[in-house]
Amino acid sequence: MKFLLLGATGAVGRAVLEQALADPRITQVMAPTRRPLPPAPRLTNPVTDFAILPAESDVWACDAVISVLGTTQKIAGSREAFRRVDLDLVIATAAAARRAGARSLAVVSSVGASAASPSFYLRTKGEMEAGLRALGYPSLTIVRPSMIDARRDPPRGLEELGAMAFRLLRPLIPARYRAVTPARIATSLIAAAMEGRQGTRVIESEEIG
Ligand SMILES: NC(=O)c1ccc[n+]([C@@H]2O[C@H](COP(=O)([O-])OP(=O)(O)OC[C@H]3O[C@@H](n4cnc5c(N)ncnc54)[C@H](OP(=O)(O)O)[C@@H]3O)[C@@H](O)[C@H]2O)c1
Repeated sequence: MKFLLLGATGAVGRAVLEQALADPRITQVMAPTRRPLPPAPRLTNPVTDFAILPAESDVWACDAVISVLGTTQKIAGSREAFRRVDLDLVIATAAAARRAGARSLAVVSSVGASAASPSFYLRTKGEMEAGLRALGYPSLTIVRPSMIDARRDPPRGLEELGAMAFRLLRPLIPARYRAVTPARIATSLIAAAMEGRQGTRVIESEEIG
């Protein structure tokens, strides 16, 4: 089975890559990135701005796609720039893979994602989900984690504080809102992409891993 992994340099992406490369059922991992990955057997890593990769590029040809792309408003610099990644780039890359024959897509969204949300972030994620549903994948899995408990380089101050608070208060927090590790999210994404169950499935945060 050939996987296309989008966002392999990120916190969740690195976990997906590690688990996918250790899984003998996955014969190739195609992981286009902006920064090179350490070489590994069965990994193909074109270093490129994949937003502008042509539709006929070999990159898109795969059985299953895992998309863990994303940025923050702070890193992107504006709301518009954030939407260009978390909405437009996620949909455009998934669409290119679908056109190239991909049948299964597993994607990271967020707890509370809704196109009707008053929160700009959650609304963007909800719009992303709607855009992906419209692409016609035979199998679509949307994973909606709560806070991702990951070490960031460079550190994302408030996010790290939040993750610490989530760890300390874990027993008091309802299951849906407990922090989740990249490794557990990766396991859910890979299992869903491999299984390729027909239709659209939403995995809420408490069901991850
Ligand atoms: N942080 C949380 O607590 C949380 C909670 C729920 C959901 N989420 C969502 O979960 C997803 C994954 O999160 P994460 O923590 O793994 O994210 P991350 O560590 O920031 O990684 C994001 C990935 O997207 C890539 N990317 C960003 N902008 C790009 C662009 N313009 N072109 C190409 N690649 C680009 C990054 O590449 P570079 O390495 O080149 O930048 C990186 O590989 C995100 O969509 C996020 O919104 C996060």
